[in-house]
Amino acid sequence: MKILKDKNIVLGVSGGIAAYKAPKLLRILQNAGASVRVVMTKNACDFISPLTFEALCGDKVLIDLFDGSYKSAIGHIDLAKDCDVAVIAPATANVIGKLANGIADDALTTFMLAVKGRKIVCPAMNDAMYANVAIRRNIMRLEADDYIIMEPSEGALACKTEGKGRLADCDKIADGICEALTKKDLTWKKVLVTAGPTREFIDPVRFISNPSSGKMGYAIAAAAKKRGGNVVLVSGPTHLEPPEGVKFIRVLSAKQMADNVFMNAQDADIIIKAAAVSDFRAEETFEHKVKKGKADKISLSFCKNTDILKEIGLNKKKGQIVIGFAAETEDLEKNALKKLKEKNLDVIVGNIVGKPGSGFEVDTNKAVLFFKDGKKEELPVMEKGELADLILSKSRA
Ligand code: CTP
Repeated sequence: MKILKDKNIVLGVSGGIAAYKAPKLLRILQNAGASVRVVMTKNACDFISPLTFEALCGDKVLIDLFDGSYKSAIGHIDLAKDCDVAVIAPATANVIGKLANGIADDALTTFMLAVKGRKIVCPAMNDAMYANVAIRRNIMRLEADDYIIMEPSEGALACKTEGKGRLADCDKIADGICEALTKKDLTWKKVLVTAGPTREFIDPVRFISNPSSGKMGYAIAAAAKKRGGNVVLVSGPTHLEPPEGVKFIRVLSAKQMADNVFMNAQDADIIIKAAAVSDFRAEETFEHKVKKGKADKISLSFCKNTDILKEIGLNKKKGQIVIGFAAETEDLEKNALKKLKEKNLDVIVGNIVGKPGSGFEVDTNKAVLFFKDGKKEELPVMEKGELADLILSKSRA
């Protein structure tokens, strides 16, 4: 969301029931530091008062092309001049049809023709309308014209039916705006990311694992996708939603992770191993639940798993960038540098687990980047999303 700071966003609101959600989107964008101004269609004013938006953004809403009381005689052009992103949420079938055909018969559609920045359309309507061939054709045409379409979600609709037609979630739209603003420096690059813990089963109901939440790896996958990468995310079990648009492979054990990583590593340009892989697995696994019986203690024997990152690093292809993580409880620099060297990495992201704002399960991380040329960069505590972007930028510097 940092990218939204000081950006000029124009929110277009057209006349659908989902117009009541537009103020929420406006607040999300404002809270992220964007300056938001609003253009409404006349029909939208039947669903929500322009006063709501005026109170929130402290600026007059543009509704009428020929409104003499608007601060500028050519409001639609002035608004478009410094507009980084124009987002229409909700976009009705009518507005979509007009934009697809270059019709400009009100303030919103005329303004859209003048926008040079990115344009995002968030349709919301009845599911049968959204499936209609005319809408499909218009959406395809908008995509061909470089509009970004934020697909509606499925669920209960205002017309008492269920289907695909609900305005995309406001957080998702905000995410889409961030993506539209992000420099696409990973276009045509395959980025392979691993995340989460692995589970090494002993019997059908018991396994050894670790508390990794997967948040760091998912943040890296999302950041790489936003930058245009062709992203493959191999993940151990987590509670997280995979980022939209990434190829997602769910695995359980280190062996499954290794198989999928090796399969995808051949043609990857960047490989980032954020997963907390179990170093050992039970030497013997049991088909049925092990009963406690009369034993007071038991012992299990474990054997070593393949070090996936080391295999990748030692067999690195020309031009490939390989990045690892080192989550340590002590001697961060010594341990991280040892792994950097032994696994033939380009960068290792070191962090001390258990320190406030850092490590497993939290949304922030405090990391030190160690580079193969001996450079080191100590970073402050930051959101995992921000750290993800930084890792991607620094690894390519
Ligand atoms: N890693 C891996 N395969 C393993 C173990 C680790 O790919 N079997 C990767 C991790 O994804 C991480 C890096 O290696 O990017 C370092 O993992 P870490 O658990 O910190 O270190 P280990 O190499 O396992 O060494 P140790 O447990 O002794 O600290």
